[in-house]
Amino acid sequence: MKPRVFSAMQPTSDSLQLGNYLGALVQWVKLQDTHEAIYSVVDLHALTVTPEPETLRRRTRVTAAQYLAAGVDPERSLVFVQSHVPEHAELAWLLSTYTGMGEAGRMTQFKDKSAKVGEAGTNVGLFTYPILMAADILLYDTDLVPVGEDQRQHLELSRDLAERLNTRLGEGSVVVPDAHIVKAVAKIYDLQEPTKKMSKTATSPKGTIEILQDPKQVAKNIKSAATDSDSVIAFDREAKPGISNLLTIYSALDGRSVEQLVADYEGKMYGHLKVDLADVVVEYLTPIRDNAMEWIESPERLDSVLEEGAAKARGIAGQTLARLYDRVGLVPAAGRR
Ligand code: TYM
Repeated sequence: MKPRVFSAMQPTSDSLQLGNYLGALVQWVKLQDTHEAIYSVVDLHALTVTPEPETLRRRTRVTAAQYLAAGVDPERSLVFVQSHVPEHAELAWLLSTYTGMGEAGRMTQFKDKSAKVGEAGTNVGLFTYPILMAADILLYDTDLVPVGEDQRQHLELSRDLAERLNTRLGEGSVVVPDAHIVKAVAKIYDLQEPTKKMSKTATSPKGTIEILQDPKQVAKNIKSAATDSDSVIAFDREAKPGISNLLTIYSALDGRSVEQLVADYEGKMYGHLKVDLADVVVEYLTPIRDNAMEWIESPERLDSVLEEGAAKARGIAGQTLARLYDRVGLVPAAGRR
């Protein structure tokens, strides 16, 4: 039996951004060779930002299409929509009774997001979000979770909950998952504000490279990326965050190491590197975008992948939930496994 990998993204925008791709999706694709892989579009999580119904529906499909276009292979991996597997919400409830208020209150993403929208805009779902995420992971007896740096604390909570369940309900209740965070690409930064992470929901679209964006705009954003006022091409995250971020992206897509790139660009101007990088990024993203468009334009084919993924995911999730319901002392429902 191969070890299992699970990961997911929120359908909160019309395109994934390069950080999602490099920090997570590239690893998802690689891990298919060595792991049994399960990848979800977490639409229930996206409800915490109260999207318009039609927008959420469109983005859910568009997100799945990008997984497939980037190389997630439905012959080898399960791809499904979270709300199609009701066990996620059910396990989240159970886990919430094992989570301390203080523990949940320490989550920095919750603090940041709730500070942004203010108390009146903060719903309880935003607070319990990491518990639903733990449910996603624990339902599939997941060994490894490939994510970017921003998910590290949520992964720690999932591990703590898994250990707690095994202590209180007996060994073998759930598998304790490990995070898989690839340091070099764990945090891709915003092009305009290179000390902030690149984000699907950034305020300025100029700082983001979107997978489905018009190539001209991609090139424009790279060429206008913020860099410091001296002009030496060197990697120094603290002193030169802008150019360091561009070097990280360049290295990830082109295969040359950062050191090699620095050597190759010695004595050249920032503008030179930006022009070359724009070409590299556009060339890299074009086939992914074309492929994603094909999936988006054949919704029946896409929905059938998602339907099959959900059916198989339910088979696994149902067993885990039944095991845990039994261990906590719920009376088995007739007809339920
Ligand atoms: P989300 O949708 O915000 O992001 C999806 C993935 O992309 C990574 N990522 C980045 N990596 C590097 N640089 C960046 N700038 C960058 N921005 C985003 C994220 O770390 C993530 O891996 N809570 C999760 C979704 C989720 C999940 C799960 C993930 C729900 N349940 C279970 C793993 C397992 C989230 O909001 O990701």
